[in-house]
This record gives sequence, structure tokens and C-alpha cells, in this order.
Amino acid sequence: MKNITTVLEYHDRTKHRPSRYAASLGYMDWATQPDPFRRYEGSELVSLKLSNVTPPYHLLFEPGALPSAPLCFESVSQLLRYGLGLAAWKSHGGSRWALRCNASSGNLQPSECYILTPPLEGISQFPALSHYAPREHALEILHQFDTPFKIEEGTILIALSSIFWREAWKYGERCWRYCQLDAGHAYQAIKISAAALGWNCDILSVNSEEIERLCGLDQLHRFDPHEQESPDMLLRLSLSSRKTSDVDLPAVPPLKSRANILSPSHHEWPILEVIDTATRGAYPQPQPLSQYRKIPVPSKSAGEVILKRRSAQMMDGTPVTEEQFRQILNASLFCSEASDVHFVLFIHRVEGLPKGLYTYVRNIADLESLKSAMESTFVWKDFGEGLYLLREGDFRGAAQMISCNQEIAKDGAFSFGMLCRFSASLESYGAIGYKNLYHQCGAIGQMLYLEATSLGLSATGIGCFLDDEFHALLGLYDQKYQSLYHFTIGRAIVDIRITTEEGY
Ligand SMILES: Cc1cc2nc3c(=O)[nH]c(=O)nc-3n(C[C@H](O)[C@H](O)[C@H](O)COP(=O)(O)O)c2cc1C
Repeated sequence: MKNITTVLEYHDRTKHRPSRYAASLGYMDWATQPDPFRRYEGSELVSLKLSNVTPPYHLLFEPGALPSAPLCFESVSQLLRYGLGLAAWKSHGGSRWALRCNASSGNLQPSECYILTPPLEGISQFPALSHYAPREHALEILHQFDTPFKIEEGTILIALSSIFWREAWKYGERCWRYCQLDAGHAYQAIKISAAALGWNCDILSVNSEEIERLCGLDQLHRFDPHEQESPDMLLRLSLSSRKTSDVDLPAVPPLKSRANILSPSHHEWPILEVIDTATRGAYPQPQPLSQYRKIPVPSKSAGEVILKRRSAQMMDGTPVTEEQFRQILNASLFCSEASDVHFVLFIHRVEGLPKGLYTYVRNIADLESLKSAMESTFVWKDFGEGLYLLREGDFRGAAQMISCNQEIAKDGAFSFGMLCRFSASLESYGAIGYKNLYHQCGAIGQMLYLEATSLGLSATGIGCFLDDEFHALLGLYDQKYQSLYHFTIGRAIVDIRITTEEGY
């Protein structure tokens, strides 16, 4: 109960309000800007391969269409390259920065990735624990186990963790939310890359402390105290869809390598440790959605879609077709484990649909509860496939205002908030459910970025929004439903002053 109270207090305290944004430094302290690349000094670096051959994007969603690639050096290389690798280098006005396959708030990249592999030629003749270094597209071998551990054949494990400091540097107290959304993006990026290999990816229900021990994150002397990593989730990637026995995690001895230092000095945000401690526990396993996504229309290769995905910084205000719109909504069903998330949409320009405020009920089991929770004057006109019109009208101003005045929210064809089943999830999953809800939203975000890209459209995740202004518009004044992530989709105006180079 104490942890739930901590969650509710943190959630309320980090809401952006028109009169007061959540606490942050309020300016960019460039002297302490964190290095976006973690390295482990003293570890052996194994370069991975760069392959350019990936299947057509639409086949990722056709069950059984892609035979499983064998588990080998090449497939692990491809998994990481199209999962969390660099998508491009950008430069402008003397600055150069890398973009990755996984979107990240402010491109601050808090997510780190550890991988546990069986003996694989090209990586290690022993089972090994490695850290993925995206700039080099290489594995840093942290430990080689001299005895095999119990892991099913054709399976690897991937752990994700977050360095809160990277986001705290810019976003202060609200940053914990962004780190969790980013972790959801990273998870979905890996899941999609695994799907391109014909592999399955599921999140294991293990304890936060087990993930920490597995990656050596509990060996605190190896990290600057301000730059420690918090465990997010443990993924099982397998060639077979058969869900089998529990995984027996190996014991990791003291590791020799030390994490690099990311900033010369730091600012303190004590609340981050409080919320981190409160939201540890056994990872929840939400009941998956019962509806499946339809197979999308054939488009580019999966690799092209993944590497071309970009956040739009400006939108051109042109419409999308109803077919494109519905395909994008439907794509979110691929995130079947994200069953606690619905969309409340501001439709500005979708051909064939009246402008207005809509809801997309992703989990039909919640329909009646949503109806009774929201404003009683909403019309709930059924537009099919889970889409309901709540109120007709021009919501461009409201969308922009709620998105911290960002114009992309009004200039996109539509924008939306991800409205989550909040109090009931905390009741069912405990305080770690708060973290899981952000992971669900982030995973959907990554999926929708890719779907928009496959259709020649663009998207942008919106972490900066006025929480309770949005809730008030819907008549929500309690904790039953809370919006945890916002998003906009449309056509981007590309800034031609910025130069682009390939990631590798
Ligand atoms: C959780 C999250 C929140 C974000 N919030 C905003 C936002 O409020 N406004 C914005 O313009 N971009 C936002 N972005 C987009 C990021 O700035 C963008 O992903 C990052 O700069 C990397 O660029 P890329 O997505 O093109 O790779 C957000 C992205 C994520 C993942």
C-alpha cells in the first residue's frame, strides 16, 4: 500500500500544469550533458556484422510467413542492428548527433541493453553476458560462464535497463516517466527486429533484483553513483513460439569492467530513487488482447522502415485517408500485451471522418467502464472497429494547448492521448504496474511510428502534455483512467538544413 501511495504522489507531483511544469532545472546545463553511449572499460569488444537483407515489412505480421532464422552470430547482429542500433547520423551548425532505431525522449537514450547468449561462433565459445554498444555495433563481453546454464535451445535473453541521469539532466522529476516510455520503445524495437528474423519475443515475469544481479547492475562500485542503472525488463527471444519452462538465471560473479563516466558533475533529483524503489517487483503479465492486427498492405522492407523512422518536428497540415488512419490504429493491436491502453483522439484531417474528439477502445472489455467514467454528454457514435465519436468539432487548439503548446499536435492529421486503465492496473499488478503501463504505451508508440513510416507518413511521441487539462476535457476527475503518453501522426516537413549520414 505504501508503494502505491508513493506512485500516486509521484504521478501527481510530476504532472505538467498550465501554471507549473514538473520540476526540472529549467535550462540546459551543457557542461554536464550526459554521454549517450555507455561503455565498459576493460571489456573485450566483439564487432557485430552489418547485414542489409530484411524481409518485407508486412510479412512480420503474417503468422508463420517467415521461417525462423538460425541462432548464430549473423542473426544476433541483425537483431541488435535493427533493434537498438544507429539509424542515422545528423549534423547541423557544427553539431553531430546519432539517431537510433528506437525513439527516445529528447534523444537522450536512457535505455541500455544486456544480452545472454549460448556459445556462438563469432561471439564466445562459452555462454556469455555482454553489453550492446550501439555506436560501434559491437558487444562488450562482460563475463563468460565456464559451465552451461539452463536455457532452452534456440533462446537468448535480453535485459533492458535505464540510466535515469541521462533524462534527469534535461527533464528533472518527470524524467522517470520518460525513461519508462523509452524502455517500452526499446522493447518493441527489439520485438519487431526479432519478428524480422521469424523469432518470438516475450517479457519474463522475473523480479527487478534478478535482472539487476544478472547484468551486474547491483555491483555498484562499477558505476558513478549518479549514473547507476535501474532494471526495466527481461526479454526471452526464441526461435519457437512454444512457451516452455521458466528460465534458470545464472549467477554472475563480480565483474571486472567499469562503466564509463557520462557527465563530469550531476544535479540531484532525490524523488527518482523513491519512485524507483517503490516500483520494483515481479514483472506483471497483463491478460493479452483478444483481437489481432490485420496483415498490412505490402510496402518496403522491414529494414528500410526501421531505419527511415523519424520523429517529425513540423507537420504540413495535410489529410490522411481513412484507410491509412484505420491501418495505424489497427497496428497497435500487434502490441497485444498492451491491453490496458486506449486512445482518445483529436481527429483534425482524416478524409471521410468528421473532425472531432474520438475514442479508440483497444480492449473492448473496457467499453462500458470508459462510457461511465467519461463526460455524460459524449455521444459515443459507433464508427466501427472500436472507434467512437465523442463530440464533433475542431479540436486543433485544444490538441496544441494540451501538448504543451506544440504545433505538431494540431498540424498532424490526428493526435491522441494514450488513456490507461490506471487504478485497476495498480490494484492488480501492484506498484510495478505503474512502470508496466508506461512500457505498454512506449511499445505502442514505437509500433505506430513504424506503421506510419511504412505508409509514407510521420509521427512524433509527445511526452510533454498537460495531464489534467486532458483529463478535464474528458470529464475524468479521479484515478480510474489516466493518460500517460501522447502522440501525433501526419506528414512531416523535413528540415533540409540538417544533413543525414548512414548509421554505420
Ligand atoms: C517518450 C517520448 C516522448 C517524446 N516527447 C516529445 C515531445 O514532447 N515533443 C517532441 O517534439 N518530440 C518528442 N519526442 C520525440 C523525440 O524527441 C525523438 O524521438 C528523438 O529526438 C529522436 O529522434 P527520432 O525519433 O527521429 O529518432 C518524444 C519521444 C519519445 C520516445
